[in-house]
Amino acid sequence: MSALQRLLITGAAGEVGSALREGLRGRFPVIRLTDHRDLGEAQEGEEIVRADLTEMAEVRAAMEGVDAVIHLGGIANEHTYEQIRRVNMDGTYHVLEAARQAGVRRVAFASSIHTVGFYPRSEKVSPDMPVRPDTSYGVSKVFGEALGRMYWERYGLAFVGVRICSFQPRPKDARHLSTWLSPRDAVQLFEKAVTAPGVGFLIVAGISGNTRRWMTEDGWEVLGYVPQDNAEAYAAEVEHIHGDPQSLTEQRQGGIFVDPEYTGLAGKEQDSALVARRP
Ligand SMILES: NC(=O)c1ccc[n+]([C@@H]2O[C@H](COP(=O)([O-])OP(=O)(O)OC[C@H]3O[C@@H](n4cnc5c(N)ncnc54)[C@H](O)[C@@H]3O)[C@@H](O)[C@H]2O)c1
Repeated sequence: MSALQRLLITGAAGEVGSALREGLRGRFPVIRLTDHRDLGEAQEGEEIVRADLTEMAEVRAAMEGVDAVIHLGGIANEHTYEQIRRVNMDGTYHVLEAARQAGVRRVAFASSIHTVGFYPRSEKVSPDMPVRPDTSYGVSKVFGEALGRMYWERYGLAFVGVRICSFQPRPKDARHLSTWLSPRDAVQLFEKAVTAPGVGFLIVAGISGNTRRWMTEDGWEVLGYVPQDNAEAYAAEVEHIHGDPQSLTEQRQGGIFVDPEYTGLAGKEQDSALVARRP
């Protein structure tokens, strides 16, 4: 069991959050789960605190007594700039600022492949390369990483940005052969992101050990992350599922997000944050 007494997971009702809730159960003395959606009954070793990330006072209340944070909450897709700013940018600021005020030691942040979505698929991207965000959503993740850098350098709050590519139970198309992050690898990666010793500021790829991956493994050794899964095992099943190889969306890493017509959830729902889903 970790020496950290209380771990907070934001966005805990979501897809990644539910997998971490399950996979990290019993790994920390207390796991506090927060979301603005229903989280059901608290299991043994869990605390549930409902909070809206756009409300600083609610985030501050959720942060009381916390040692480390896995910050997953937000809109997980493109939306209007205003919604992205309100939930992903202001929300992440609230989390980091409340963490600083509460004396939290480390924050692991769910960043995204969409920070670098415009890179061609022929290029292997490392965390040191210039960002090439493909959407306002991608920009919000770049903002989160920059905010993390500032909180580390200015206040000594350690920060690990995990650029999740495609979190799925299993690969569904050819792109996922490069981008897949399996649930058990996500659990290992986020656990190590908050517990590995000697980490100050780090950005890493959030993918399984896929043979065809487009991101480098820089920083995995710092965390001690050793992926257990490789999407290649599903190649025969999904390799034929792809779009026109000549289209921009098939040539760039961000996929459909690089299409200038792609608006994600904008105009689709009243409160997109409740049903945020990537294609
Ligand atoms: N799933 C992926 O493949 C993937 C890829 C890259 C990055 N990410 C990032 O990982 C994180 C988790 O992704 P996911 O797939 O679980 O998404 P999800 O939409 O399933 O979960 C996000 C959670 O955040 C909560 N949330 C949204 N707005 C909120 C608010 N104002 N206050 C409180 N909670 C709020 C939602 O209710 C939801 O439970 C997100 O930050 C996403 O951008 C995911």
